[in-house]
Amino acid sequence: MADLTTRLLGLTLAHPIMPAAGPPVRDGDALLACAAGGASALVTKTISTAAAAVPAPNMADFKTYFLNTELWSELTPEQWLEVEYRKAQEAGLPMIVSLGYTTEEIAALAPKVKPFADVIELSTHYISDDPKPMQDAIRAAKAGADVPVLVKMSPFRDAQIAALAAQAAGADGLVAINSFGPTLGIDIEHGGKLWMGGKGYGWMSGPAIKPIALRVIYDVARAVDIPIIGVGGISTGADVVEFLMAGAAAVQVCTAAITKGPDIFGKIARQLDRWLDQHGYESVDAIQGLALRQPVPAMVEPPTLRVDRCTGCGLCVTSCVYGALYLEEKEIHIHEERCEKCGLCISRCPVDALHPPM
Ligand SMILES: Cc1cc2nc3c(=O)[nH]c(=O)nc-3n(C[C@H](O)[C@H](O)[C@H](O)COP(=O)(O)O)c2cc1C
Ligand code: SF4
Ligand code: SF4
Repeated sequence: MADLTTRLLGLTLAHPIMPAAGPPVRDGDALLACAAGGASALVTKTISTAAAAVPAPNMADFKTYFLNTELWSELTPEQWLEVEYRKAQEAGLPMIVSLGYTTEEIAALAPKVKPFADVIELSTHYISDDPKPMQDAIRAAKAGADVPVLVKMSPFRDAQIAALAAQAAGADGLVAINSFGPTLGIDIEHGGKLWMGGKGYGWMSGPAIKPIALRVIYDVARAVDIPIIGVGGISTGADVVEFLMAGAAAVQVCTAAITKGPDIFGKIARQLDRWLDQHGYESVDAIQGLALRQPVPAMVEPPTLRVDRCTGCGLCVTSCVYGALYLEEKEIHIHEERCEKCGLCISRCPVDALHPPM
């Protein structure tokens, strides 16, 4: 068994996988279900000084992506302070309390949530591109509660500028990323009806935003010294490996916990453990930031073929638009002179029979 112990902002977590703010953590009972499902810490649904009036419909799943037009919690802060946080505390896990949005709102909420919060997470979703309101909100959170403050980044702003501004204002860590948008989904089976209520636009999450999240983490990790929690499209242990290699110290999961249920947290942790064992890594620390230390590749030779592994499925042959690959007696071969070193076949092979050249 690999060592999944994750140290973050003075906390020691059993593993790096926790829920993200969203429906799976919408109240105390839901938070307890995430704990029972194996989460290592609890992040609570974003609250503000008033309950949100959420439009309906507000969620739709398209498998490779998910749209939502939810806002913050539909419960009042009083309900959270009197009932929901207390209930969630029964799990005995570290709690990251998500707050939004303006300086005034954060200044009012931070002292009240302090008894329940090991860490405060600030959503920047509805504040402008100007970093000043975010910086003021960070200072208000730190003045109101003597706990570490995380800033959750929205993917449609310049990541490094926002991250540096957050760090300069005293943020103790970053969470990247929130859902991406605005986007649009149309229900073609019902006369072109929009899928989302409200203004009709949706915010995208799930597998499709994973490369955006990884890029933001990779960029931000090279700009700041504070830890980053990665979030966006994670549903498997292999996804977590990718985020840790990109520079994340821990991860959050929202959409996969909606579509697959709260047992997903423990399942992903077991997959991560197996992956580390199979690849000879002793701990999560051993893979953290590996991608940051790799040079950007320059492919100057054709891929290396592992003929012994090839099943003859033909997937790489179909997608080599240069006609460089061919099968002979169900074995892969290459016309090296035709290979343009595009690299595509390496990602297409399901059995790892094609490798980048050494
Ligand atoms: C239905 C829904 C509601 C969400 N509500 C919040 C929220 O209240 N606060 C917040 O910071 N992020 C919220 N998010 C964003 C998620 O926490 C997460 O950053 C994003 O969905 C990407 O992760 P995922 O692909 O694992 O879902 C919400 C996402 C969804 C899908
Ligand atoms: S690297 Fe590109 S061109 Fe070369 S064999 Fe693979 S798919 Fe074809
Ligand atoms: S994709 Fe992999 S297994 Fe399939 S033919 Fe190509 S090399 Fe062989």
